[in-house]
Amino acid sequence: MITGGASGIGLGSAKAFLAAGLNVIIADIRPDHLAGARDTLADGGERVLLLELDVNNKAQWSLARAAVEERFGNVHVLFLNAGVGVLGSMIDATADDYEWITAVNLAGVLNGLSEFLPHIIGHGERAHIVATSSMGGLIVANDGGIYSSAKFGVVAAIEQLRRELSGSAVGASVLCPAAVNTNIFDHERVRPGYHGGSLAATEPPELAKREAMAKTILALGRSPVEVGQMVIDGIIADAPYIFTDRNVAPTLLKRRDALLACAEH
Ligand SMILES: NC(=O)c1ccc[n+]([C@@H]2O[C@H](COP(=O)([O-])OP(=O)(O)OC[C@H]3O[C@@H](n4cnc5c(N)ncnc54)[C@H](O)[C@@H]3O)[C@@H](O)[C@H]2O)c1
Repeated sequence: MITGGASGIGLGSAKAFLAAGLNVIIADIRPDHLAGARDTLADGGERVLLLELDVNNKAQWSLARAAVEERFGNVHVLFLNAGVGVLGSMIDATADDYEWITAVNLAGVLNGLSEFLPHIIGHGERAHIVATSSMGGLIVANDGGIYSSAKFGVVAAIEQLRRELSGSAVGASVLCPAAVNTNIFDHERVRPGYHGGSLAATEPPELAKREAMAKTILALGRSPVEVGQMVIDGIIADAPYIFTDRNVAPTLLKRRDALLACAEH
């Protein structure tokens, strides 16, 4: 089961999971993305189930679990991947910005754990949980104060979950992507109404400029299917962290050195 599964990393992973022989449940908030995924994964036939789910909505989580149990029985891979990559100034952000970015990126993951952990632990078969954080969950992304505070939380949740699950049939990994070529730039337009208006200063010309820049950077990144295969490899290896970029050491060392510089005073 993949949240945010109808686009980008989630959809790429769905293709990789299907090719590896798994049935796939795609849960996503966007009907247009779900329709696209239905076409893209048409060859999967009855092995694919598409569900509309807002990861922020606990009632919908319960309905999703019931639908999944009815169709496929036990879930063996839970991939809590839905996220919104909204960056911007913490000073200029509205209260709605704070709430929405945190609700999807962190609470959305915790809601999935709270809904599905009893199911996964209860069925007793081998299973694995993966949650998508970001390199911005290990070092603060530029203008990513709110985003990274949520993504750091995802890393913390999975680190603790691994401890608790150690020695059991269930593993847990956190995916920390660098740039991946997805639709991550395209969230402002589909922000749910209950999370208020768009981030400050996203008038159409400004939004178009931002999106063009994001697309250029992301086009240099990994392909989503490649990342899906990395997720499978990470599950098989029971890797605590799954990175999509080989060159993460300098970033991680920068943070470690900043911490040690204060700790050694
Ligand atoms: N693309 C990158 O470079 C990159 C880098 C680091 C981390 N990430 C993380 O990867 C994950 C997947 O993003 P992506 O890059 O594939 O972007 P994407 O926009 O292509 O896919 C994300 C999907 O999540 C869905 N979604 C958004 N809000 C939702 C909600 N409330 N409930 C359910 N679904 C919701 C969207 O409709 C979309 O289909 C996110 O958590 C993102 O933060 C991406």
